[in-house]
Amino acid sequence: MKVSIIVPTYQEVENLQPLSEMIQAELNGLDYEILIMDDNSQDGSIEKVAKLSLLHPIRIITRTENRGLSPAVIDGFDEAQGDIVVVMDADLSHPASAIPKMVALLESGESDFVLGSRYVPGGSIDESWTLWRYINSAVATLPALPLTRVKDPMSGFFALRRKDLPSSHKLSPIGYKIALEVMVKGDFQKVTEVPIHFVDRVYGESKLTLGEQIKYLRHLRRLYQYKFKTKAEFFQFALVGSSGFIVDLLVYLVLQMFGLSHTVARAISFWPAATWNWMLNRVMTFNHREKTRKATQWSAFVTSSLLGFSVNYGTYYTLTTYVPFFQEHMIFALIIGVLMGMGFNFTISNLFIFRKLREEVHDESKH
Ligand code: GDD
Ligand code: MN
Repeated sequence: MKVSIIVPTYQEVENLQPLSEMIQAELNGLDYEILIMDDNSQDGSIEKVAKLSLLHPIRIITRTENRGLSPAVIDGFDEAQGDIVVVMDADLSHPASAIPKMVALLESGESDFVLGSRYVPGGSIDESWTLWRYINSAVATLPALPLTRVKDPMSGFFALRRKDLPSSHKLSPIGYKIALEVMVKGDFQKVTEVPIHFVDRVYGESKLTLGEQIKYLRHLRRLYQYKFKTKAEFFQFALVGSSGFIVDLLVYLVLQMFGLSHTVARAISFWPAATWNWMLNRVMTFNHREKTRKATQWSAFVTSSLLGFSVNYGTYYTLTTYVPFFQEHMIFALIIGVLMGMGFNFTISNLFIFRKLREEVHDESKH
C-alpha cells in the first residue's frame, strides 16, 4: 500500500461518490486507500461507502467519541496502512489532481511535508469568495504565520510520510487546524507548498462555526506555548500587565470623580489592578500550571507585585539620581524601571507563584 487518503466527514453523503471518482480519475495507477473518518453522521454514509467499496478501495470508520475534524484525522493516522498519508476534505474543495505531485515530492525526498496552498503562485480561491470572506481568512491566517514558514497555514489539505508523523500523544489540537498542529509539532526539514485551486462546496454545508473559531484561538495559544515556551509566557504576562495598567488608571480616575484624594485613589487602585492581573495570569498565561489555592496564590501575587513596584521605582530613582543621562531623559528611566519591575514579577510568578506541574518538568528534561 502506497497512499492512505484520510477524509474526515460529517454528513457528507452526497460528496462520497464524486470524491471517490475524482480520486480514481486523478490517481490512476497509484496504489491507494480512502479512509472515511465519519463522526456517526447517520445520513446513509455507511451504506453509500458499502456500495462504493465494490468499485473503489474505500472504507468507513464510524466514530462515536471525541467528535471533531482533528481528532478524526488523528484516528485516521492510526488506521492508515500506506507509507504516505494524505488528508483532504470530503466536499471536493481540495483537488485530487494535486495528490500525485504531493506523493512524488515525498517519494523523491525533495520534501518532508507537502501542503496544498491557495496562496502560492498558481494557487487560487473560488471566484465566489466575497471580499468579506477573504478578509476573514486573512485575519485568521496572520497570527499563525510566526508558527510556520508557509503561506497558507490554514489549509486542511496535506501529505507526509507516515513514519514522520509526530506520535499521537504529542498531538492535541482543539478545533480545525490539524495541518498547523502537525507542522508545528513534527520535525520537518523540507516543507513544500503546492498550488491548489480551492473550490467551494456544492453539496452540504460548511461546519465551520463561531465555536470552532474560538477553539482556533485556544489552539493558537497552545501552539505558541509549545513553540516559544517562556517567551510566549512572558509575552502574555506583559499583555496582561498592560491591561492591568488600564484597570489601574480607570479605578484611579473614577475614585477621584467620587471625591477621593489622588493619593488615596492611587493607593486603592493598585488592588483591583493586581487582582485582575493575577486572575488573567491564572486562567491564561499560566493556565497549564498547578492550580494552587486561590487565596494563597493571590496573596503571593500581590506581594510580588508590591515588590515589583519597589524594583520599578527603585530603578527609576537610582537612575535619575545618579546617572546624568537619565536626568535629562527621565522617560527612559521610567521605561527601564517598568521593564525591570515586570522582569522581576515575571520571574517570581514563573518560578514560585504559578508552579509547574510534574509532567511539564518531565517534558522539559526530555528535550
Ligand atoms: N469527522 C468529522 N468531524 N469531520 C468533520 C467535522 C467533525 O466534527 N467537521 C467538519 N468535518 C469535515 C467535513 O465533513 C469536511 O469533509 C471537512 O471536515 C472540512 O469541513 P468544512 O465544513 O467543509 O470546512 P471548511 O470548508 O469551512 O474549511 C476548510 O477550509 C479551511 C480553510 O479555509 C477545511 O479544509 C479546513 O481544514 C481549512 O482550514
Ligand atoms: Mn469545505
